[in-house]
Amino acid sequence: MPFRTLLVLAGVFSVGWTARLQPSAARPPLPTFRTSDACVACHNGLVTPSGEDVSIGSDWRGSMMANSSTDPYWQASVRREVADHPQAAGAIEDTCASCHMPMARALANASDRTGDVFAHLPAGRRTRHEDRLAQEGVSCTMCHQITDRNLGKAESFSGGFVVASVPRPQPPAILGPYHVDAGRSAVMESASDYRASEAPHVRTSELCATCHTLYTQALGPQGQPIGKLPEQTPFLEWRHSAFRDQQGCQSCHMPAVHEQMPIASVLGIPRDGFARHVFRGGNFFMLGMLNRYRRDIGVAARPQDLDAAIRQTVQQLQSDTAKISLTVAGVTRDRLDLDVAVENLTGHKLPTGFPSRRSWLHLTVHDRNNRVVFESGALTNEGRIEGNDNDADPRRYEPHFTEIRQGGEVEIYESIIGDRNGDVTTGLLNGTRYLKDNRLLPRGFDKTTAEPDIAVIGAAGGDGDFAAGGDRVRYSVDRGGADGPFDVDVELRYQPIGFRWARNLGVYDATETRRFVGYFDSMSSTSSLVLARARTTAR
Ligand code: HEC
Ligand code: HEC
Ligand code: HEC
Ligand code: HEC
Ligand code: HEC
Repeated sequence: MPFRTLLVLAGVFSVGWTARLQPSAARPPLPTFRTSDACVACHNGLVTPSGEDVSIGSDWRGSMMANSSTDPYWQASVRREVADHPQAAGAIEDTCASCHMPMARALANASDRTGDVFAHLPAGRRTRHEDRLAQEGVSCTMCHQITDRNLGKAESFSGGFVVASVPRPQPPAILGPYHVDAGRSAVMESASDYRASEAPHVRTSELCATCHTLYTQALGPQGQPIGKLPEQTPFLEWRHSAFRDQQGCQSCHMPAVHEQMPIASVLGIPRDGFARHVFRGGNFFMLGMLNRYRRDIGVAARPQDLDAAIRQTVQQLQSDTAKISLTVAGVTRDRLDLDVAVENLTGHKLPTGFPSRRSWLHLTVHDRNNRVVFESGALTNEGRIEGNDNDADPRRYEPHFTEIRQGGEVEIYESIIGDRNGDVTTGLLNGTRYLKDNRLLPRGFDKTTAEPDIAVIGAAGGDGDFAAGGDRVRYSVDRGGADGPFDVDVELRYQPIGFRWARNLGVYDATETRRFVGYFDSMSSTSSLVLARARTTAR
C-alpha cells in the first residue's frame, strides 16, 4: 500500500472567516496540477465513427467552467464583495477562488497562503505557473484528481473536495471511469507525469456537488459572520427529485456518445459510454460576451469553440428545458380567461444555480384588428421586464401569482435574496435568506417535504398547482370592449443575468465593475431567450 496523504484543500474558510490556515505538523506534499496543454495532445482530435467531432479539449475550452475565472461578471462580482466588506477582503478572494480558480487556490492553501483573485489577472498577461492555472478555471487535472472522500456529505460542499497528493517520485493519479491497462497508462505517464486510475465515483452527481452546492457566509458591517445562505443547490434539488434514481448530472451535462469510441487519439481503444465534455448549461449570454470581447478579456478558447458552445446551449434551452401549453378557459362579454401550464424538464429547479437567473411568462392578446388588448412580461432593450417591480425599483420585487389580471403583473420564476434587515439585495455576502423562491420544481419534487435549504418561499408555497414538474397560471383579461377572435401568444423566457444583478454593479467605481456593466449594456437587448412558446385563438 503506497503511502498517501490526503490534503483538505477547501473548507478551512467555510468554517468561519476568522479561522486561520493551520500549518500541519508534517507538511504533506503539494498537489500537482497542470494546464490542459499537457493533456489535449492526446485527448483532442476525437471524431466518432459517424463523423462528429467530440474532442475533449475543444469541448471543454468553450464551456463556462473553462472560463470560470476569465468571466467578467465573476470578476466584477468579486470586486463588489471586496468593496462592500473591506475588512474581509483576503478571505473573500480566497473563498471566491475556491471554485472559480480552484487549482491556484489549492496550491496557495497547501503552502499556507490564502488564494488570490486579482493578483492572477488580467488573463493572458501574467504567466507564472499559478497564474496560468488560475486562468484555466476548472480544468482537467482539477476534476480528475477529486477523490471520493466525503462525497455527498456536507463537508465536501462549498468547494470542500479533497485532492490526493502523493510524495514524489510516485506519479499522481488521474481518476477516470475506465480500467486502463499498464502499457497505456505508462504512455500517458511518460507524456504527462500522471497515471490513469479507475475510480467509479467520477461518474456520480456527488462529484459535481462539491462545487455546485454553495453555502455563502453572510457578513455583517464589521465583516463578521452573521449567517449562511444556500446560494446554489442544484444537487440538493436533484436529490429531492425523481431524477435521483434515474439520471445524474453527467447524463444531461456530459451527454454520452452512442457509438464505441476511443477516448485518446494516441493508442485509444474503442470504448463504450464516452461522455462529452460540453458541460452545457444555460449561460448563452456570457458565452456570447466572452466571444465578443475575447481580446479585452483574454479568452483562450477559439471563436469556433465558443460558437459551438453557444449553439449547443441554445439548443438545450429550446428543446430540453421546458414545455408550455395554453388553453382558453372561458370567453364572456367582458373577460377572457386563459390557462397557461409550464413544465420543467430539467433535473433541478428551473432556473437553478446562480441567483441572477430568471424565467418568466410573456403573454400577449391581440383583438380582431390586431390591436394589443393585453400584455404582461414584455422585455425592454435594456433587459428590463416591463411591469416587474424589482426592475423599476431595487427595493421591491414581484410576488408569485396564481392569477394575473393586469398588465402590470408578471409571473417571474426566480429567487429574491434578503439581507439581515429583510431588504432585497443582490450582494451575495449580504444575503441571509430568501424572500421569494418560486423557481419551477423538477419532476418528483414534493414541496411539502423539501428540506429548508431548497424550500419554496412565498406565495408559491400555498399555490396548489405550483407543484412537482411545473406550474399553472390563470390570466383573466379585461376585454375592454374589444372584439374577437383574439390571438393569444405566450412565451416562457429566460435571462441568465437579470437586469438588477447587472445594473446594481453600476454604482461601484472599479475597473471590473465598469467593464462588465458596459458589456452588459452593449448586449442587453440579446440578454434573453424564448425557451418555449404556445399560441391559440379565443372566439
Ligand atoms: C501521450 C498521450 C496522453 C497524454 C499526454 C495524456 N493522456 Fe490521458 N490517456 C491516454 C491513453 C492512451 C489513455 C488510455 C486509453 C484507453 O485505455 O482507452 C488515457 C486515459 C485517460 C483517462 C481515462 C482514465 C480512466 O481510468 O478512465 C483520463 C481521465 C485521462 N486520460 C486524462 C488525461 C489528462 C487529464 C491528461 C493531462 C494531464 C492526459 N490524460 C494526458 C493518453 C494520454
Ligand atoms: C462552491 C463553489 C463556488 C464558490 C465558493 C463561489 N462560486 Fe461563484 N459560481 C459557482 C458556480 C457553480 C457557478 C455557476 C452556476 C450557474 O451557472 O448557475 C457560479 C457562478 C457565479 C457567477 C455568475 C457568472 C455568470 O457568468 O453568470 C458569479 C457572478 C459568481 N459565481 C460570483 C462568485 C463570488 C463573488 C464568489 C465569492 C464570494 C463566488 N462566486 C464563489 C461556484 C462557486
Ligand atoms: C468538471 C469536471 C471535469 C473537467 C474539467 C474535465 N473532466 Fe474529464 N471527465 C469528467 C467526468 C465526470 C468524466 C466521466 C463521465 C462519465 O463517464 O459519466 C470524465 C471523463 C473523461 C475521460 C474518459 C472519456 C470520456 O470522455 O468519457 C477522459 C479521457 C477525460 N475525462 C479527459 C479530460 C481532459 C483531457 C480534460 C481537460 C481538457 C477533462 N477531462 C476535463 C469530468 C471532468
Ligand atoms: C472545482 C469546482 C467544480 C466542479 C467539481 C464542477 N463544477 Fe461545474 N462549474 C463550476 C464553476 C465555478 C462554474 C461557473 C463558471 C462561471 O459561470 O463563471 C460552473 C458551471 C457549470 C455549468 C454551467 C454552464 C452554463 O452554461 O451556465 C454546468 C452545466 C456545470 N458547471 C456542470 C458541472 C458538472 C456536470 C460537474 C460534474 C461532472 C461539475 N460542473 C463539476 C465549478 C465546478
Ligand atoms: C434531466 C436532465 C438534467 C439533469 C439530471 C441535471 N441537469 Fe442541470 N440542467 C439541465 C438543463 C436542460 C439545463 C438548462 C436550463 C437551465 O439553465 O436551468 C441545466 C442547467 C444547469 C446549470 C446551469 C444553470 C445556469 O445558470 O446556467 C447548472 C449549474 C446545472 N444544470 C447543474 C446540474 C447539476 C449539478 C446536476 C446534478 C446534481 C444537474 N444539473 C442535473 C438538465 C439537467
